[in-house]
Amino acid sequence: MAPSSLPIVRDATALRAAIAGWRGAGLRIGLVPTMGALHEGHLSLVRLARRRAERVIATLFVNPLQFAAHEDLSRYPRDEAGDAEKLAGAGCDLLYAPALAAMYPPGFATSVTVAGVSEPLEGEIRPLFFGGVATVVAKLFMQTPADVAVFGEKDYQQLLVIRRLVGDLDIAIEIVAGETVREADGLAMSSRNAYLAPDERATAGKLNVFLRDAVAQLRAGDAIAAAEAACAARLAEAGFKPIDYVAVRDAETLAPLVTLDRPARLLAAAWVGKTRLIDNFPVRPAKTGVS
Ligand code: PAF
Repeated sequence: MAPSSLPIVRDATALRAAIAGWRGAGLRIGLVPTMGALHEGHLSLVRLARRRAERVIATLFVNPLQFAAHEDLSRYPRDEAGDAEKLAGAGCDLLYAPALAAMYPPGFATSVTVAGVSEPLEGEIRPLFFGGVATVVAKLFMQTPADVAVFGEKDYQQLLVIRRLVGDLDIAIEIVAGETVREADGLAMSSRNAYLAPDERATAGKLNVFLRDAVAQLRAGDAIAAAEAACAARLAEAGFKPIDYVAVRDAETLAPLVTLDRPARLLAAAWVGKTRLIDNFPVRPAKTGVS
């Protein structure tokens, strides 16, 4: 493949030099942080950033801080040349792909912790994850600095953690959420879908179907606990194992809910073979019929 024409910078100094002209001209800068292995979901975030800003920077950094020792850091898919090509086609202006030593030089000793919204669900299963995400995202925000940053709703809890981080630290970057992009059968696009064998891929496509059915059940008035349990049972029957969680939570705080009396989110994480899938859908309170 011919190298892409997209400029690539490798450290924060080169990044600042590359965007100095944009800042001097008062251009609005959009940021799309990624770990690469880009698919249509990422590219939709780039296009969304493009609508909100005059210049778009994508970042590509497989952040070791957000992987536990037993997780898939070493096998995480990597294709920088292919990613650069896709980004250029989606309207990205610059790729920031720092080397590990540029992000975490010897002696690096700072970590960012977001309490509260990072603690349930993913936080219980992957206790290192959100600390790693918050630390790297805080660094990327300092290094850029952008006017707007776009994150996918597919990683819904991550989006809430980043909103909290930005609010708590008075970081002047607008956080914009991009809708989850799905395959024809509704499977949420994810770099990790590449791990799925054909039979696993068929099973994976059922996650979104069962979640949508659970949302419909909730809107029809079923109790939260019953809808969660029914969805988990269908996932188990279809071959998902283990099922990390199927949970209806407050859409902003992720606090557990007993009744559907406010905007909520149904979130799930479950494994197909060696691949962990996550997905989520909004659950709006059912109409009462009283207008
Ligand atoms: O969502 C991701 O790809 C990563 O968690 C992020 C936000 C780029 C931080 O490494």
